Amino acid sequence: MPYKLFHPALLLLFLAPICNALGGEKTPAFGKAPMSGEQVYKAVCVTCHAHGLAGAPKAGNRPSWAPLITEGYDDLVGSALTGVRMMPPKGGAPELYDIEVARAVVYMVSLAGGKFPEPTEANVRAARADGEKRHLERLKKAAAARQ
Ligand code: HEC
Repeated sequence: MPYKLFHPALLLLFLAPICNALGGEKTPAFGKAPMSGEQVYKAVCVTCHAHGLAGAPKAGNRPSWAPLITEGYDDLVGSALTGVRMMPPKGGAPELYDIEVARAVVYMVSLAGGKFPEPTEANVRAARADGEKRHLERLKKAAAARQ
């Protein structure tokens, strides 16, 4: 009888919140409504881009961003969506909508004095396709280099 009252699965009910409190759950909860570029920056991108962690171009640092800005919207948004070197896809937050990531890129570009177009469904889709194409080329090159 007491066994039935204290089913081991009940322990999960107590352990899950403790694990979360201890840092098992790192990703902030995002609302269903798309966030602004500034909100995404502050929730995710700030971790690396505020101080230039792992070689990330520092937010607001014009010399770091100027050469990137000349690469254009498709290049930067595409890289932010699919990842490039130490930059994880979507900054490591896969639950972000593509358009939120694009808005964050536009926001960081504006912090460095640049001006990119306002993200739309169509231009974000095009940027993703561009990023995926380049990502695939990098994978092929890396695989070929190991043969
Ligand atoms: C874990 C650290 C990290 C996080 C979080 C992160 N970035 Fe980055 N990001 C980097 C690094 C490192 C680079 C430099 C990559 C390189 O060129 O080697 C970079 C580069 C970039 C670039 C330039 C890409 C290019 O074409 O060279 C953009 C744009 C960018 N990040 C956007 C974002 C956005 C938007 C977010 C938030 C959604 C974000 N990053 C979150 C580490 C991060």
